[in-house]
Amino acid sequence: MTKQLYIETVGCQMNLLDSELVVASLRKQGYALAKKASRADVILFNTCSVREHAEEKIYSALGRLKHIKRQHPKKVIGVIGCMAQNHQSKVFQRAPFVDLVVGPGQLHQIPDLIHRVMENGGPQLEVSLDRKGEHRRTVEQSFESYDPLRMPEMRPSRYQAFVRIQIGCDKFCTYCIVPKVRGPEQGRNPDEILAEARQLADEGCREIVLLGQTVNSYRYQESGKTTRLSDLLYRLSDIQGIDRLKFVTNYPRDMTIDLLHAVRDLPKCAHYLHVPAQSGSNRMLRQMKRGYTVEQYREMLSKIREHIPTAAVTSDFIVGFCGETEDDFALTCDLVRESRFKNSFIFKYSERPGTKGADRYPDDISDPVKKDRNNTLLAIQNAISEEMNQQKIGREYEVLVEGPSKSSRKQEHQGNRLQLTGRTMTDDIVVFDGNLRQQGQLLPITIYDANAFTLFGEVRMEHVGPEVYSLSPEFTN
Ligand code: 5AD
Ligand code: SF4
Repeated sequence: MTKQLYIETVGCQMNLLDSELVVASLRKQGYALAKKASRADVILFNTCSVREHAEEKIYSALGRLKHIKRQHPKKVIGVIGCMAQNHQSKVFQRAPFVDLVVGPGQLHQIPDLIHRVMENGGPQLEVSLDRKGEHRRTVEQSFESYDPLRMPEMRPSRYQAFVRIQIGCDKFCTYCIVPKVRGPEQGRNPDEILAEARQLADEGCREIVLLGQTVNSYRYQESGKTTRLSDLLYRLSDIQGIDRLKFVTNYPRDMTIDLLHAVRDLPKCAHYLHVPAQSGSNRMLRQMKRGYTVEQYREMLSKIREHIPTAAVTSDFIVGFCGETEDDFALTCDLVRESRFKNSFIFKYSERPGTKGADRYPDDISDPVKKDRNNTLLAIQNAISEEMNQQKIGREYEVLVEGPSKSSRKQEHQGNRLQLTGRTMTDDIVVFDGNLRQQGQLLPITIYDANAFTLFGEVRMEHVGPEVYSLSPEFTN
């Protein structure tokens, strides 16, 4: 009988991709995906350490499995990803029934490690030793042995895929655990990236999202030649079948002119740039060790707007970082008010043991104050997002159709007609009535309503009928 695998994923896009690759490697070993943990032979949690809350949620979820494990001791329970690297054997101490703890650099070993557990080899721990030497080499190997395994069924939509071009981070912002758990920054060989993108295009993928913690810092050197992100975008643009290219997440200081020119000049590049500012106060930015001032961030933003006037820019902010005063926070509010971000992701500071921030500065802003600042900033941003979205009413956008909308997935629908969702070139989510066959197509959609998060649109009449329209002839089926 086929063995059943259940996997739960929290955290960023890198984790979604990691889970896709872990599932692919286990599918090769004959595993099928189970919808419920209780039905599975192997239960994996792919974890995140960026905030304490994300880690605590995993321990709670593990706690709920305790009795299942007692009743079915042969089930294999694994904690993988960032929290595995961060807590290592501490996971076994807090949840002694866990069989497997595997860091992000060792995910390719999972099939073997599960096998060892099943052969009564006892609990297995595989993590990186430190950021130096050996670590760099093993993680590099994980690019080669791992990334080419793709799994269309595991992706949110088979028409889109994440492609990793960089792992790790060398920036060491004082609040951030990523450099510790994901190791040193390394760029992936561009030939491998190209090969993977071609394979994805052959499988019907139309949009590729390039991933890296500071993706625009991407550099790959070989035989005296350096490949930058902009060079990569030019090469990826030549792949037939791929119609859209995006990349996340950007580091403000590395938003170079060559990159802005590539985004401006390459029709396949989305005009969407996620460039986290984190704070509007120079005092906080210095303490965070972000490496730029708010003036430099503003300058970078005006450079983006000068070269790509249609660009949608999004940002991240941390509120309640150590010693953040009302004045510091007011400066962040000012930056959000004037920058007209399409969206901002706002986080309450969460102290992470092992970071410079935790060592040097007390986490002295109370939770109610953090919550309050979070709500205030969110309200400012949401009003701007709504206003910007309202301006899109009456306009037509090209939308890549992803599939049924969240609400229609839950509802019964007549035949193939249902509410679909897709994205514009500036990453706006558009909901509209359509036909299942339109998944994966680029459709012109006119917006008739909008709120802060979603645009509501209508497909132009000639594309509604039974003849399905596609801008790309190879997709008419
Ligand atoms: N506390 C709160 N937010 C954090 N982030 C990173 N580390 C922390 C932390 N310790 C946020 C940053 C980053 C996003 C992915 O998570 O804003 O850009
Ligand atoms: Fe963390 Fe800073 Fe690296 Fe982003 S750039 S992953 S916030 S250390």
